[in-house]
Amino acid sequence: MIGVIFGVIVPYIAVAIFVVGVVYRIVNWANSPVPLKIPTTGGQQRSLPFIKRTVYDRFDSPYTWWETAGRMLLEIFLFRSLLKNTRYYLDRVSQKDARWLWLFGILFHYSLLLVLIRHSRFFLEPVPSFVEMLSEIESFKGVFIPSVYISGLAIVAALFLLWFRRIFLSRERTLSLPSDHFALILLLAITISGNLMRYFFKADLFAVKELLMSLMSFNIGHAVEVAETIEPIFYVHFALASFLLAYFPFSKLMHAGGVLFSPTRNMPNDNRARRHVNPWDPADVPLLAKGITVAGRTYKSKKLDWETYYEMYTDQLQEIEEANYKIVPEEL
Ligand code: HEM
Repeated sequence: MIGVIFGVIVPYIAVAIFVVGVVYRIVNWANSPVPLKIPTTGGQQRSLPFIKRTVYDRFDSPYTWWETAGRMLLEIFLFRSLLKNTRYYLDRVSQKDARWLWLFGILFHYSLLLVLIRHSRFFLEPVPSFVEMLSEIESFKGVFIPSVYISGLAIVAALFLLWFRRIFLSRERTLSLPSDHFALILLLAITISGNLMRYFFKADLFAVKELLMSLMSFNIGHAVEVAETIEPIFYVHFALASFLLAYFPFSKLMHAGGVLFSPTRNMPNDNRARRHVNPWDPADVPLLAKGITVAGRTYKSKKLDWETYYEMYTDQLQEIEEANYKIVPEEL
């Protein structure tokens, strides 16, 4: 029974929640208006020709699409903004380097990447040669049987370091929400159970692979059959991983996709050269029912006119009117 529940039903539900949730949030972000130009920058922005910019300035204060893309890639793959992590003490007028956070962050994320790439051997047949190669390169052989995967242990260490930061540093403790702790604890539980399974309580990896491949090909009958033969320790790991998947769209872990939509990261700093016009959905702005022209572009609402808007929010609008505010736009 455990096999059917945690090996078949729970993972299917988790994947469904993950896919629907992630798509929903991405579509929502993609449709959100960005009314202001808000790139966060540090370097010299493009200005008069005699004001020189270094390569560093170009990535820190990008002006063109390419420079912005470069900054984005450095952010995604090297967490560049965390390399500026300095702590200021205004009372003492001093500052302290806090770039260890960058190190912990990089350690966690790259270990996770390696662990997940290596996990592909559980559901890909044949296993791609680069996955085999990666596993070889980062495994520590010799006295240990099975060989020790460095990333599998490094991820646990990195998660503990990130968690201790939230527990033992007073400022970080104040800023931390229960959900911050929860995400770290969940990831710790998954990675520790994975390591336990590899080194102490063995699970039948052939059966695990068969289960995953049956699930992926929707061969549910066979999945149910195999699921019953796998050891409970696997279901501890698998159920936690399924939970992570289902929790993902509702959590801060969505930053994995959100970074691409962050206006502070993805906008060029060309405020002084180009006027920023928000390409928002005209449906949000009833005034646009008639169509207005901003900077040569005409926006006209296709979905919502003033009457419908008034009908939708009659109570609130009347309340505002009673307070002596004018609610009907001038143009109407
Ligand atoms: C589809 C979901 C997953 C399945 C089926 C799965 C399966 C497994 C299995 C069978 C092992 C034992 C490997 C061995 O004995 O060589 C393992 C180990 C491990 N798993 Fe997972 N896992 C899943 C998701 C995850 C996730 C999301 C993480 C990380 C957040 C993770 C982290 C680990 C770690 C750190 C190990 C220790 C050994 C290593 O580094 O490969 N697993 N997993």
